[in-house]
Amino acid sequence: MLNQATLGAKSASETIFDVRQMPSPLSGGWETINNIKYQAIRHELDAGCGAVTFRDGSILNERNGDRYEKFIAFGRRLGEVQIRGGGSSPIWHVEPKKSDGSPKSYSESNDVAPFHTDASYYPNPMKYLVFLAVRPAEIGGENQVFSIPDRLPEFSNGAAGCAAIEVLKRETFPFGMPPTFHNKDEQKDLPLECGPVLLDGGIVRFQIKALREGFRRRPDLASPEKIEAVEALNDFIQQHLNGRGVRLGRGQILIVNNWRALHSRKAFNDPNRLLLRLSIADTFPTNTAHR
Ligand SMILES: [Fe+2]
Repeated sequence: MLNQATLGAKSASETIFDVRQMPSPLSGGWETINNIKYQAIRHELDAGCGAVTFRDGSILNERNGDRYEKFIAFGRRLGEVQIRGGGSSPIWHVEPKKSDGSPKSYSESNDVAPFHTDASYYPNPMKYLVFLAVRPAEIGGENQVFSIPDRLPEFSNGAAGCAAIEVLKRETFPFGMPPTFHNKDEQKDLPLECGPVLLDGGIVRFQIKALREGFRRRPDLASPEKIEAVEALNDFIQQHLNGRGVRLGRGQILIVNNWRALHSRKAFNDPNRLLLRLSIADTFPTNTAHR
C-alpha cells in the first residue's frame, strides 16, 4: 500500500491512505479501456485493500457535458450507476454548500468528515464510490481510506478488540439516518436499517453518527456490550484521522469499495473545492444468521 511503501512502519499517528495507486485503464482516452489494467483495478477493489486511485490527463479535457457523460460511461463499466439524493443526474457535486442555517451532510460541508461508510442506514449501501477531482482545495481537504481487511487484524490483536469484533459480527445494530440530514421535525420518518457492523469476508457497515442515532431511536437494540463494541471500534478507526491523507490532484480518480473500506476527508477552507462523485449499486451481502 502507498502508506506502508512510502512511510515504512505503521503507528497510530502515521496513517492513513489505504489505497493502491494504479495505472489508468483509460490511457487511450475515455472511449477505450485497457482491460488488463481495468481487471487489476477490480481485483484490488474486491479482493485487495478496497480502494484504488489513478490519474488520467484526458478526463478533464472534455467540456462539461461530455465530461459528465464519459464519467458516467466509466461508472457503468463498474456496475449499475445510481441516481441518489432526489436529483436527475447520477453525478453528485461534492462541494461546500453556503450556509443557509440548514444542516449539511458530509459532502456539503468543509469540516472534517470522520471515517465512515456511505448510506449505512439504507438496506443496500452502494458498492463503489467513484470520485473525480475537478478542483482540489488550495489547502486541506485530503481524503483518507481505512481498509477493513488490512486494518482489522490490528484491532483484533488486543483482547478487548477481539471481543468487540465478536459482538460486531454477531449482534444486530440499528443504523439511523442522522437528523442533521433533514429537518428535525421529520425524524420519525428518517430511514433506519438493522444489521451487523461486520460481516464475513471483511464487509463493513459503519457510521458512528448513524449508530448513535440508531441506539437512540431503537433502545431495544442497544446494550452496554454493543455500545462499548461500537465505541471501541470507532476509537480505533478515528485515531487515524490525524494521520496522512492525500489531496487528490486535478483529474485524479479515487474509487472506494464502500463495503470493504471507510473514507474520511480533512477540513478545508477553499470554497471552490469540487469533486464529482458516482455511486455504483450492487446487492449488499448478508450473513445467513442475520437474514
Ligand atoms: Fe462519505
